[in-house]
Amino acid sequence: MRKKVIAGNWKMNNDLSESQNLISKLISGLSNEKVNCDVIVCPPFTSLSEANSLLKKSIIKLGAQNMYFEESGAFTGEISASMLKNTGCEYVILGHSERRTIFGETDQVINKKIKKALQSNLLPIFCVGESLQERESEVTNDIIKRQITEGLKNISSAEMQKIIIAYEPVWAIGTGKTASPQQAEDVHAFIRGLVKSLYSNEIAEGLVIQYGGSVKPDNAKELLSQKDIDGALVGGACLKSESFIEIIKAA
Ligand code: PGA
Repeated sequence: MRKKVIAGNWKMNNDLSESQNLISKLISGLSNEKVNCDVIVCPPFTSLSEANSLLKKSIIKLGAQNMYFEESGAFTGEISASMLKNTGCEYVILGHSERRTIFGETDQVINKKIKKALQSNLLPIFCVGESLQERESEVTNDIIKRQITEGLKNISSAEMQKIIIAYEPVWAIGTGKTASPQQAEDVHAFIRGLVKSLYSNEIAEGLVIQYGGSVKPDNAKELLSQKDIDGALVGGACLKSESFIEIIKAA
C-alpha cells in the first residue's frame, strides 16, 4: 500500500510573519488529528529557514518550490540544491507548469534539476501536465509521455524510487476547474504504466503520483479514492490552514 502524500505549494504568497502564522495554525490544527499521510509544505525561499525552525518537532516536512541545477557561482537570483538542503528542505517541486510556461523551463532543464536534486539528497516532486489546447487536441498522453521520458532521462532505478510525480493538468491549476476523478485516474494509470515500461513493475507500484489542480476540501476525498491517485499537490487551498487540514483529513 502506498502512503498518501499531501503537499502544499504556497507559490509567491506569505511574507515571514504570514508564514509563521500559517505554520503555527497547521501545527496546532493537526495536533489532535490522526494523520495517516505524509504532509509537506513548500513556502517561498524567504520563509524556509523560519519554517524549518517552527516545524522541527512536527510531522510536517519542508519543501521548496524550485532550485537551479548548478552547484554555485555566477547565477544571479538563483538558489542551489545544497542551499535548500542546508535550510532543512527534504523536498523540492520541479517542473511546475508555472515554471515551464512563465519562466520557459524546458524538459531538458527540468531533467538537470531532477538529477542535481537527487545528488544533493533532495526528493523531487516532479510536475507534469497538459494544457487545455493539448487536451482538446487529444494529445494529453503524448505530452505526458514526452515530459516524463525527457524529465527522467538517465535517472537510475535507485533514484527513481525517490521521486514523486505530480500530475497537474494546466487547465485545472488555479482555475477552480478540477479534472474529474475519472479523467485524473486515466492519466495517473497511464503514468504508472509508462514508469513500469521505463523501469519495472515494482518501481511503478511503489511510485507516489499526486494530483494537482484546484484540489479543495469538497473534491479531495473522491480524487484521493481513485486507485492510482496517491496524494495531492495543493495550491490555493493550502493557504488557509482550515482547508489544507480538511484535505489532509480526506487522505
Ligand atoms: P491550485 O494549484 O490548487 O491553486 O490549482 C495547484 C498547483 O499549482 O500546484
